[in-house]
Amino acid sequence: MEPSPVARHHERLLIVDFGSQVTQLIARRLRELQVYCEIHPFNQVTPDFLAEFAPKAVILSGGPASVIDEGSPRPPEEVFALGVPVLGICYGQQVMMQMLGGEVLRGDGTAEFGRAWVTPAERLDLLEGWFGENREQVWMSHGDHVAKLAPGFRVFATSPGAPFAVTADPERHFYAVQFHPEVHHTPKGPTLYRNFVRAAGFSGDWTMGAYREEAVQKIRAQVGDAKVICALSGGVDSSVAAALIHEAVGDQLTCVFVDHGLLRLNEAEEVVGMFRDHMNLSVIHAQEQELFLGELEGVSDPETKRKIIGRLFIDVFQKYADQIEGAAFLAQGTLYPDVIESVSFSGGPSVTIKSHHNVGGLPEKMGLKLVEPLRELFKDEVRALGRELGLPDHFIGRHPFPGPGLAIRCPGEITRDKLDILRKADAVYIDQIRKHGLYDEIWQAFAAILPVRTVGVMGDGRTYDYACALRAVTSVDGMTADYYPFSHDFLSETATRIINEVRGINRVTYDITSKPPGTIEYE
Ligand code: XMP
Repeated sequence: MEPSPVARHHERLLIVDFGSQVTQLIARRLRELQVYCEIHPFNQVTPDFLAEFAPKAVILSGGPASVIDEGSPRPPEEVFALGVPVLGICYGQQVMMQMLGGEVLRGDGTAEFGRAWVTPAERLDLLEGWFGENREQVWMSHGDHVAKLAPGFRVFATSPGAPFAVTADPERHFYAVQFHPEVHHTPKGPTLYRNFVRAAGFSGDWTMGAYREEAVQKIRAQVGDAKVICALSGGVDSSVAAALIHEAVGDQLTCVFVDHGLLRLNEAEEVVGMFRDHMNLSVIHAQEQELFLGELEGVSDPETKRKIIGRLFIDVFQKYADQIEGAAFLAQGTLYPDVIESVSFSGGPSVTIKSHHNVGGLPEKMGLKLVEPLRELFKDEVRALGRELGLPDHFIGRHPFPGPGLAIRCPGEITRDKLDILRKADAVYIDQIRKHGLYDEIWQAFAAILPVRTVGVMGDGRTYDYACALRAVTSVDGMTADYYPFSHDFLSETATRIINEVRGINRVTYDITSKPPGTIEYE
């Protein structure tokens, strides 16, 4: 496996992945420190790869295996001969001890899961400015523990369940921690990473300004004078990808915005207006509402709806793309988390909960090559790049919106009537959230129209109208989520506004389901 081409221009840190659930968080903490890093699975880190990648420092991640077990994963020994700082985290710490001559033992009552407190034993550069009141909170998750240190290592901090919570061989800049400094529950974790990259001599050369210039050069080199097409969804990723490619190749880029009739209030006009009128991009507004809503008529099964929308989207996109003569490239807003190869210990595929909507498969079908200028970036970096490219803040900070749009917020049969009601209710709800200054605290918020009508009373009359559900969640990546704890005042004010301002709704509920067991969307 090759290091990414961007890597060659920057100081690089290598994260060797042993399959921890939180390895990506290590990379994010480092990128926040403006350090370029890549995650590679342990079994692909060969001595040749190490020589080619030439990291300035190495981090060995955690993982679910036990170093005591035969055949458990190891990095190549060459990692310890590079002459660069190495940080082992949890499993990474144990593998380091074992390979460098220490000993790891199983259980015997020393397992720790969850919050723990470590106290200092001796001064260490890695722990500079770290301890508050002589102890610090960390997140532990280990069954095995180090029983004997490798030669050259000393103890620098301990916890009740891990006498070797922080150990190091300061001469060689080898550091080993039993806890996870990358997670939120180790509040001072970022300090530890800052100290580590300082010890490794990183200058912090990974900035969005630098990335923008390099990406523009790279796109020009890849595309030459060929034409590029891009499916613009109005989401942050495709928007930033389009803006970047436009900066690189100007009018060689044409965007297709597919309007499936399942967008939010005024959304199509806002997106097309911004890109076409303010940014001078060439945008085709594909008005295909009739087609999509026609085929969805009478369909209420969630997966069938998703499949219909996915299929039509591809057909429509292809129809418009075919009109662009000489198109050779398809732009996609693929992000780094989609690129990182995960280390799988179970082997089998995971269960499909919902079939996601995307344009996968299109490039081969249409004979197009891919341009993916965001492949090295995390979501927060894409936002920073978008700002760098001059996209407005309110646009960059928008909550995610799913490809199938309002279809999956309208459980049961979709009708134009219901969609209109939903659009209005959603707009009032989001307006309320913005007015109360809560938008940026919430990961995603929207209204859904429920497939039930209930009886109400307004004025002196009986009503028989739809009920809507309001959803707002906090999350890091959409994989898990908590409902947002609005105040009762906010909720009652919002319910009153929706009922007063939106004809067709006479009841408002607030959804307090977390994910799991619920999903964020309704279908
Ligand atoms: P769920 O409902 O699975 O949603 O908890 C998790 C996140 O994914 C978004 N989502 C989608 N995004 N195409 C997308 O582009 C889809 O088909 C799709 N389905 C769900 C959802 O909005 C949430 O942010």
